[in-house]
Amino acid sequence: MTGSGGGDWQRDLVRELTDGPPPEGGVPHTSVPEPPPRAQTEPEPPPRTETGPPAPRPPRDPRVPAPAPESLPTIDPRLTIALGSPRPGDSAARRAGAGLRRLTASAGREVVEQSRYAEELQQPVTTGRVVAVTSIRGGVGKSTVSALLGRTFNHYRQDPVLTLEADAALGTLPVRMGAESVRWSAGDLARVLSPAMQLTDITGYLVPVADGGWLLPAGQGRVGAPLDVGTYRTVTLALRRYFAVTVVDCESLPGEVARTAMDTAHARVVVAPMTAEGVHGTRQVLDWLARLPHSALASTVVALSAATPDATLDTKVATAHLREPGVTVVPLPYDRHLAQGGPIHTAKLARDTRDAAVRLAAEVMGRAVRVR
Ligand SMILES: Nc1ncnc2c1ncn2[C@@H]1O[C@H](COP(=O)(O)OP(=O)(O)OP(=O)(O)O)[C@@H](O)[C@H]1O
Ligand SMILES: [Mg+2]
Repeated sequence: MTGSGGGDWQRDLVRELTDGPPPEGGVPHTSVPEPPPRAQTEPEPPPRTETGPPAPRPPRDPRVPAPAPESLPTIDPRLTIALGSPRPGDSAARRAGAGLRRLTASAGREVVEQSRYAEELQQPVTTGRVVAVTSIRGGVGKSTVSALLGRTFNHYRQDPVLTLEADAALGTLPVRMGAESVRWSAGDLARVLSPAMQLTDITGYLVPVADGGWLLPAGQGRVGAPLDVGTYRTVTLALRRYFAVTVVDCESLPGEVARTAMDTAHARVVVAPMTAEGVHGTRQVLDWLARLPHSALASTVVALSAATPDATLDTKVATAHLREPGVTVVPLPYDRHLAQGGPIHTAKLARDTRDAAVRLAAEVMGRAVRVR
Protein backbone atom coordinates (compact mmCIF):
# COMPACT_ATOMS: atom_id res chain seq x y z
CA MET A 1 0.00 0.00 0.00
CA THR A 2 1.21 3.48 -0.60
CA GLY A 3 1.36 5.79 2.37
CA SER A 4 1.59 4.68 5.93
CA GLY A 5 -0.58 2.89 8.44
CA GLY A 6 -2.80 -0.01 7.56
CA GLY A 7 -1.17 -0.59 4.17
CA ASP A 8 1.55 -2.96 5.40
CA TRP A 9 -0.43 -6.11 4.76
CA GLN A 10 -0.40 -5.47 1.06
CA ARG A 11 3.27 -4.55 0.96
CA ASP A 12 3.93 -7.91 2.60
CA LEU A 13 1.88 -9.56 -0.07
CA VAL A 14 3.89 -7.86 -2.81
CA ARG A 15 7.10 -8.97 -1.11
CA GLU A 16 5.75 -12.48 -0.97
CA LEU A 17 5.31 -12.30 -4.72
CA THR A 18 8.91 -11.50 -5.41
CA ASP A 19 10.88 -13.16 -2.55
CA GLY A 20 8.49 -15.53 -0.89
CA PRO A 21 8.32 -19.29 -1.04
CA PRO A 22 6.66 -20.90 -4.05
CA PRO A 23 2.87 -21.21 -3.77
CA GLU A 24 1.57 -24.35 -2.21
CA GLY A 25 -1.94 -24.51 -3.61
CA GLY A 26 -1.61 -22.18 -6.61
CA VAL A 27 -0.55 -23.17 -10.06
CA PRO A 28 1.69 -20.58 -11.72
CA HIS A 29 0.38 -19.33 -15.03
CA THR A 30 3.60 -20.22 -16.77
CA SER A 31 3.91 -23.77 -15.44
CA VAL A 32 0.42 -25.13 -15.08
CA PRO A 33 0.51 -28.90 -15.52
CA GLU A 34 -1.18 -30.21 -18.59
CA PRO A 35 -4.70 -31.46 -17.95
CA PRO A 36 -4.89 -35.15 -17.12
CA PRO A 37 -6.46 -37.41 -19.74
CA ARG A 38 -10.15 -36.55 -19.99
CA ALA A 39 -11.36 -39.99 -18.86
CA GLN A 40 -9.64 -39.59 -15.48
CA THR A 41 -11.81 -36.73 -14.30
CA GLU A 42 -14.65 -36.35 -16.71
CA PRO A 43 -16.18 -39.55 -18.03
CA GLU A 44 -17.34 -39.37 -21.64
CA PRO A 45 -21.09 -38.76 -21.85
CA PRO A 46 -23.09 -41.82 -22.82
CA PRO A 47 -23.63 -42.14 -26.59
CA ARG A 48 -26.63 -40.27 -27.99
CA THR A 49 -29.43 -42.57 -29.06
CA GLU A 50 -31.47 -42.08 -32.18
CA THR A 51 -34.69 -41.51 -30.28
CA GLY A 52 -34.04 -39.16 -27.38
CA PRO A 53 -31.68 -36.60 -25.82
CA PRO A 54 -28.43 -37.85 -24.26
CA ALA A 55 -28.59 -39.14 -20.69
CA PRO A 56 -27.26 -36.58 -18.16
CA ARG A 57 -23.51 -36.59 -17.54
CA PRO A 58 -22.65 -38.15 -14.15
CA PRO A 59 -21.57 -35.47 -11.62
CA ARG A 60 -17.82 -34.81 -11.36
CA ASP A 61 -16.10 -36.23 -8.29
CA PRO A 62 -15.33 -33.12 -6.16
CA ARG A 63 -12.21 -34.81 -4.68
CA VAL A 64 -10.54 -34.90 -8.10
CA PRO A 65 -9.11 -31.46 -9.06
CA ALA A 66 -10.55 -29.96 -12.22
CA PRO A 67 -8.15 -30.19 -15.16
CA ALA A 68 -6.21 -27.04 -16.05
CA PRO A 69 -7.65 -25.35 -19.13
CA GLU A 70 -5.27 -25.21 -22.09
CA SER A 71 -3.47 -21.98 -22.88
CA LEU A 72 -4.96 -20.32 -25.98
CA PRO A 73 -3.60 -17.40 -28.03
CA THR A 74 -5.68 -14.22 -27.66
CA ILE A 75 -5.28 -13.46 -31.34
CA ASP A 76 -4.28 -15.57 -34.34
CA PRO A 77 -0.52 -14.93 -34.88
CA ARG A 78 -1.16 -14.26 -38.59
CA LEU A 79 -3.38 -11.32 -37.61
CA THR A 80 -0.79 -10.00 -35.17
CA ILE A 81 1.71 -9.88 -38.05
CA ALA A 82 -0.88 -8.26 -40.30
CA LEU A 83 -1.43 -5.50 -37.74
CA GLY A 84 2.03 -4.09 -38.43
CA SER A 85 4.08 -2.11 -35.94
CA PRO A 86 2.46 0.12 -33.31
CA ARG A 87 1.62 3.57 -34.63
CA PRO A 88 2.37 6.68 -32.55
CA GLY A 89 -0.77 8.40 -31.26
CA ASP A 90 0.60 11.87 -32.03
CA SER A 91 1.49 12.99 -35.53
CA ALA A 92 5.18 13.69 -36.31
CA ALA A 93 4.52 17.47 -36.21
CA ARG A 94 2.91 17.21 -32.79
CA ARG A 95 5.71 15.07 -31.45
CA ALA A 96 8.22 17.66 -32.66
CA GLY A 97 6.28 20.43 -30.90
CA ALA A 98 6.12 18.57 -27.58
CA GLY A 99 9.48 19.91 -26.37
CA LEU A 100 8.45 23.51 -27.05
CA ARG A 101 5.17 23.04 -25.22
CA ARG A 102 7.00 22.09 -22.06
CA LEU A 103 8.70 25.53 -22.05
CA THR A 104 5.49 27.57 -22.32
CA ALA A 105 3.75 29.47 -19.52
CA SER A 106 1.17 26.72 -19.01
CA ALA A 107 3.93 24.22 -18.17
CA GLY A 108 4.00 25.26 -14.50
CA ARG A 109 0.25 24.83 -14.15
CA GLU A 110 0.52 21.40 -15.75
CA VAL A 111 3.14 20.32 -13.21
CA VAL A 112 0.88 21.39 -10.33
CA GLU A 113 -2.02 19.49 -11.88
CA GLN A 114 0.07 16.37 -12.46
CA SER A 115 1.25 16.26 -8.85
CA ARG A 116 -2.34 16.69 -7.61
CA TYR A 117 -3.41 13.74 -9.78
CA ALA A 118 -0.45 11.66 -8.59
CA GLU A 119 -1.43 12.34 -4.97
CA GLU A 120 -5.01 11.27 -5.67
CA LEU A 121 -3.84 8.12 -7.47
CA GLN A 122 -1.48 7.09 -4.69
CA GLN A 123 -3.96 7.38 -1.85
CA PRO A 124 -3.81 4.49 0.60
CA VAL A 125 -6.86 2.25 0.74
CA THR A 126 -8.05 0.20 3.69
CA THR A 127 -9.77 -2.46 1.57
CA GLY A 128 -9.56 -3.08 -2.16
CA ARG A 129 -11.51 -0.62 -4.32
CA VAL A 130 -13.54 -1.81 -7.31
CA VAL A 131 -14.05 0.44 -10.33
CA ALA A 132 -16.67 -0.64 -12.90
CA VAL A 133 -16.45 0.57 -16.51
CA THR A 134 -19.49 0.31 -18.78
CA SER A 135 -21.44 2.12 -21.51
CA ILE A 136 -24.87 2.34 -23.03
CA ARG A 137 -23.88 0.19 -26.01
CA GLY A 138 -21.05 -1.87 -27.43
CA GLY A 139 -17.90 -0.76 -29.24
CA VAL A 140 -17.61 2.70 -27.71
CA GLY A 141 -14.33 2.16 -25.86
CA LYS A 142 -14.98 0.32 -22.55
CA SER A 143 -12.10 -2.13 -22.92
CA THR A 144 -9.80 0.63 -24.14
CA VAL A 145 -10.68 2.82 -21.15
CA SER A 146 -10.36 -0.15 -18.76
CA ALA A 147 -6.92 -1.00 -20.13
CA LEU A 148 -5.81 2.65 -19.81
CA LEU A 149 -7.10 2.80 -16.24
CA GLY A 150 -5.50 -0.51 -15.23
CA ARG A 151 -2.15 0.61 -16.60
CA THR A 152 -2.38 4.06 -15.02
CA PHE A 153 -3.26 2.73 -11.56
CA ASN A 154 -0.48 0.24 -11.83
CA HIS A 155 2.03 2.90 -12.84
CA TYR A 156 1.26 5.11 -9.86
CA ARG A 157 0.65 2.53 -7.13
CA GLN A 158 3.00 0.21 -5.27
CA ASP A 159 0.28 -2.28 -4.32
CA PRO A 160 -1.26 -4.90 -6.64
CA VAL A 161 -3.71 -3.77 -9.33
CA LEU A 162 -6.05 -6.12 -11.19
CA THR A 163 -7.90 -5.57 -14.45
CA LEU A 164 -10.87 -7.90 -14.62
CA GLU A 165 -12.88 -8.70 -17.72
CA ALA A 166 -16.56 -9.07 -16.88
CA ASP A 167 -17.84 -9.07 -20.43
CA ALA A 168 -19.58 -11.84 -22.34
CA ALA A 169 -17.35 -14.06 -24.46
CA LEU A 170 -15.07 -12.53 -27.11
CA GLY A 171 -14.07 -9.39 -25.23
CA THR A 172 -10.97 -7.54 -26.37
CA LEU A 173 -9.45 -6.66 -22.99
CA PRO A 174 -6.73 -9.38 -23.00
CA VAL A 175 -5.52 -8.19 -26.43
CA ARG A 176 -5.62 -4.51 -25.39
CA MET A 177 -3.61 -5.40 -22.25
CA GLY A 178 -0.99 -7.16 -24.37
CA ALA A 179 -1.74 -10.73 -23.21
CA GLU A 180 -0.53 -13.18 -25.86
CA SER A 181 -2.41 -16.12 -24.42
CA VAL A 182 -5.01 -16.84 -21.77
CA ARG A 183 -5.67 -19.95 -19.75
CA TRP A 184 -7.74 -19.40 -16.61
CA SER A 185 -10.96 -17.42 -16.67
CA ALA A 186 -12.95 -15.71 -13.91
CA GLY A 187 -15.27 -18.74 -13.85
CA ASP A 188 -12.34 -21.15 -13.38
CA LEU A 189 -10.95 -19.05 -10.54
CA ALA A 190 -14.36 -18.78 -8.86
CA ARG A 191 -14.45 -22.59 -8.64
CA VAL A 192 -11.09 -22.92 -6.87
CA LEU A 193 -11.07 -19.80 -4.65
CA SER A 194 -10.66 -20.45 -0.95
CA PRO A 195 -10.05 -18.08 1.97
CA ALA A 196 -6.71 -19.79 2.71
CA MET A 197 -5.22 -18.70 -0.61
CA GLN A 198 -2.26 -16.31 -0.59
CA LEU A 199 -1.68 -13.62 -3.21
CA THR A 200 0.94 -15.89 -4.80
CA ASP A 201 -1.68 -18.64 -5.16
CA ILE A 202 -4.11 -16.20 -6.76
CA THR A 203 -1.61 -14.74 -9.21
CA GLY A 204 -0.90 -18.28 -10.45
CA TYR A 205 -4.31 -18.04 -12.10
CA LEU A 206 -3.83 -14.54 -13.53
CA VAL A 207 -2.05 -13.15 -16.58
CA PRO A 208 0.88 -10.88 -15.66
CA VAL A 209 0.69 -7.62 -17.64
CA ALA A 210 3.95 -6.54 -19.31
CA ASP A 211 4.04 -3.07 -17.64
CA GLY A 212 3.02 -4.60 -14.29
CA GLY A 213 -0.30 -5.50 -12.71
CA TRP A 214 -2.52 -8.49 -13.40
CA LEU A 215 -5.33 -9.49 -15.72
CA LEU A 216 -8.18 -11.95 -15.26
CA PRO A 217 -10.08 -12.69 -18.49
CA ALA A 218 -13.78 -13.60 -18.59
CA GLY A 219 -13.11 -16.53 -20.92
CA GLN A 220 -10.80 -17.85 -23.58
CA GLY A 221 -12.18 -15.84 -26.45
CA ARG A 222 -14.58 -18.52 -27.63
CA VAL A 223 -18.29 -18.11 -28.17
CA GLY A 224 -19.79 -19.49 -24.99
CA ALA A 225 -21.73 -18.83 -21.85
CA PRO A 226 -21.19 -15.28 -20.61
CA LEU A 227 -19.94 -14.59 -17.12
CA ASP A 228 -22.84 -14.85 -14.67
CA VAL A 229 -23.70 -12.60 -11.76
CA GLY A 230 -22.84 -15.27 -9.16
CA THR A 231 -19.32 -15.69 -10.56
CA TYR A 232 -18.88 -11.93 -10.76
CA ARG A 233 -19.85 -11.47 -7.12
CA THR A 234 -17.67 -14.38 -5.91
CA VAL A 235 -14.59 -13.21 -7.77
CA THR A 236 -14.80 -9.49 -6.99
CA LEU A 237 -15.58 -10.04 -3.33
CA ALA A 238 -12.70 -12.49 -2.87
CA LEU A 239 -10.12 -10.56 -4.91
CA ARG A 240 -10.71 -7.29 -3.05
CA ARG A 241 -8.63 -8.82 -0.26
CA TYR A 242 -5.58 -9.02 -2.48
CA PHE A 243 -5.79 -6.08 -4.87
CA ALA A 244 -5.81 -2.41 -3.91
CA VAL A 245 -7.69 -1.54 -7.10
CA THR A 246 -9.71 -3.78 -9.42
CA VAL A 247 -10.79 -2.24 -12.72
CA VAL A 248 -13.76 -4.13 -14.17
CA ASP A 249 -14.34 -4.05 -17.92
CA CYS A 250 -18.10 -4.76 -17.98
CA GLU A 251 -20.45 -5.66 -20.77
CA SER A 252 -22.75 -2.87 -22.01
CA LEU A 253 -25.83 -1.84 -20.09
CA PRO A 254 -28.47 -3.04 -19.40
CA GLY A 255 -26.73 -6.46 -19.08
CA GLU A 256 -27.27 -8.07 -15.69
CA VAL A 257 -23.58 -8.34 -14.84
CA ALA A 258 -23.04 -4.70 -15.84
CA ARG A 259 -25.94 -3.59 -13.65
CA THR A 260 -24.62 -5.62 -10.71
CA ALA A 261 -21.12 -4.28 -11.23
CA MET A 262 -22.35 -0.69 -11.42
CA ASP A 263 -24.46 -1.15 -8.32
CA THR A 264 -21.75 -2.77 -6.19
CA ALA A 265 -18.57 -0.91 -7.32
CA HIS A 266 -16.92 1.83 -5.26
CA ALA A 267 -16.66 4.05 -8.34
CA ARG A 268 -18.04 3.91 -11.86
CA VAL A 269 -16.96 5.04 -15.30
CA VAL A 270 -19.55 5.40 -18.03
CA VAL A 271 -17.93 5.62 -21.45
CA ALA A 272 -19.90 7.93 -23.76
CA PRO A 273 -19.24 8.04 -27.50
CA MET A 274 -18.76 11.51 -28.94
CA THR A 275 -22.00 11.52 -30.94
CA ALA A 276 -25.31 13.27 -30.26
CA GLU A 277 -27.14 9.94 -29.82
CA GLY A 278 -24.32 8.51 -27.68
CA VAL A 279 -24.37 11.50 -25.34
CA HIS A 280 -28.17 11.46 -25.20
CA GLY A 281 -28.20 7.72 -24.34
CA THR A 282 -25.48 8.14 -21.71
CA ARG A 283 -27.53 10.87 -20.08
CA GLN A 284 -30.32 8.28 -19.62
CA VAL A 285 -27.81 6.00 -17.85
CA LEU A 286 -26.82 8.83 -15.53
CA ASP A 287 -30.47 9.49 -14.69
CA TRP A 288 -30.82 5.74 -13.90
CA LEU A 289 -27.72 5.86 -11.69
CA ALA A 290 -29.20 8.81 -9.84
CA ARG A 291 -32.04 6.56 -8.76
CA LEU A 292 -29.73 3.82 -7.40
CA PRO A 293 -28.91 3.67 -3.70
CA HIS A 294 -25.35 4.27 -2.41
CA SER A 295 -25.08 7.74 -3.99
CA ALA A 296 -24.10 6.15 -7.31
CA LEU A 297 -23.88 9.43 -9.20
CA ALA A 298 -21.48 10.97 -6.72
CA SER A 299 -19.02 8.18 -7.48
CA THR A 300 -19.45 8.24 -11.26
CA VAL A 301 -17.19 9.77 -13.88
CA VAL A 302 -18.01 9.97 -17.60
CA ALA A 303 -15.25 9.29 -20.15
CA LEU A 304 -16.32 11.10 -23.32
CA SER A 305 -14.50 9.09 -25.95
CA ALA A 306 -13.81 10.26 -29.50
CA ALA A 307 -13.21 6.95 -31.23
CA THR A 308 -13.22 8.60 -34.69
CA PRO A 309 -11.41 11.67 -36.08
CA ASP A 310 -14.65 12.64 -37.84
CA ALA A 311 -16.68 13.47 -34.72
CA THR A 312 -18.26 16.91 -35.14
CA LEU A 313 -20.19 17.17 -31.89
CA ASP A 314 -19.10 20.20 -29.89
CA THR A 315 -17.15 18.80 -26.90
CA LYS A 316 -18.17 21.73 -24.68
CA VAL A 317 -21.89 21.26 -25.35
CA ALA A 318 -21.64 17.47 -24.90
CA THR A 319 -19.71 17.90 -21.64
CA ALA A 320 -22.20 20.43 -20.27
CA HIS A 321 -25.13 18.13 -21.12
CA LEU A 322 -23.55 15.17 -19.32
CA ARG A 323 -22.49 17.30 -16.35
CA GLU A 324 -26.03 18.48 -15.60
CA PRO A 325 -26.94 15.60 -13.23
CA GLY A 326 -23.75 16.32 -11.27
CA VAL A 327 -20.97 14.10 -12.66
CA THR A 328 -17.45 14.92 -13.78
CA VAL A 329 -16.74 14.47 -17.49
CA VAL A 330 -13.26 13.68 -18.81
CA PRO A 331 -12.88 13.92 -22.61
CA LEU A 332 -10.69 11.19 -24.11
CA PRO A 333 -9.37 12.46 -27.45
CA TYR A 334 -9.11 10.52 -30.69
CA ASP A 335 -5.78 8.70 -30.68
CA ARG A 336 -4.28 7.08 -33.77
CA HIS A 337 -2.55 4.43 -31.67
CA LEU A 338 -5.79 3.45 -29.94
CA ALA A 339 -7.67 3.47 -33.24
CA GLN A 340 -5.18 0.98 -34.67
CA GLY A 341 -6.47 -1.76 -32.36
CA GLY A 342 -4.26 -4.51 -30.91
CA PRO A 343 -2.13 -4.20 -27.76
CA ILE A 344 -1.88 -0.74 -26.22
CA HIS A 345 1.71 0.48 -25.87
CA THR A 346 1.81 3.27 -23.30
CA ALA A 347 4.86 4.90 -24.89
CA LYS A 348 3.01 5.20 -28.22
CA LEU A 349 -0.04 7.00 -26.81
CA ALA A 350 -0.57 10.64 -27.74
CA ARG A 351 0.41 13.00 -24.96
CA ASP A 352 -3.19 14.25 -24.61
CA THR A 353 -4.39 10.65 -24.25
CA ARG A 354 -1.91 9.97 -21.45
CA ASP A 355 -2.94 13.18 -19.70
CA ALA A 356 -6.62 12.29 -20.06
CA ALA A 357 -6.01 8.76 -18.71
CA VAL A 358 -4.20 10.14 -15.66
CA ARG A 359 -6.95 12.67 -15.01
CA LEU A 360 -9.67 10.04 -15.44
CA ALA A 361 -7.90 7.59 -13.12
CA ALA A 362 -7.34 10.32 -10.49
CA GLU A 363 -10.99 11.43 -10.59
CA VAL A 364 -12.11 7.81 -10.25
CA MET A 365 -9.70 7.00 -7.42
CA GLY A 366 -10.74 10.07 -5.47
CA ARG A 367 -14.36 8.91 -5.61
CA ALA A 368 -13.58 5.24 -4.93
CA VAL A 369 -11.72 6.17 -1.76
CA ARG A 370 -14.17 8.73 -0.45
CA VAL A 371 -17.45 6.90 -1.09
CA ARG A 372 -18.58 4.40 1.62
N1 LIG B 1 -9.76 7.27 -27.84
C1 LIG B 1 -9.81 6.51 -28.94
N2 LIG B 1 -9.21 6.95 -30.07
C2 LIG B 1 -9.26 6.21 -31.20
N3 LIG B 1 -9.87 5.03 -31.32
C3 LIG B 1 -10.46 4.54 -30.22
C4 LIG B 1 -10.48 5.23 -28.98
N4 LIG B 1 -11.17 4.49 -28.07
C5 LIG B 1 -11.56 3.39 -28.73
N5 LIG B 1 -11.14 3.41 -30.01
C6 LIG B 1 -11.43 2.42 -31.06
O1 LIG B 1 -12.70 1.83 -30.80
C7 LIG B 1 -12.59 0.43 -30.86
C8 LIG B 1 -13.54 -0.20 -29.87
O2 LIG B 1 -13.08 0.07 -28.58
P1 LIG B 1 -13.28 -0.98 -27.39
O3 LIG B 1 -12.99 -2.36 -27.82
O4 LIG B 1 -12.54 -0.43 -26.23
O5 LIG B 1 -14.85 -0.82 -27.17
P2 LIG B 1 -15.79 -1.65 -26.19
O6 LIG B 1 -16.82 -0.70 -25.71
O7 LIG B 1 -15.00 -2.36 -25.17
O8 LIG B 1 -16.44 -2.70 -27.19
P3 LIG B 1 -17.29 -4.02 -26.83
O9 LIG B 1 -18.67 -3.53 -26.47
O10 LIG B 1 -17.24 -4.81 -28.08
O11 LIG B 1 -16.62 -4.68 -25.66
C9 LIG B 1 -11.13 0.13 -30.56
O12 LIG B 1 -10.68 -1.06 -31.16
C10 LIG B 1 -10.43 1.31 -31.17
O13 LIG B 1 -10.18 1.07 -32.53
MG1 LIG C 1 -14.95 -4.44 -24.72
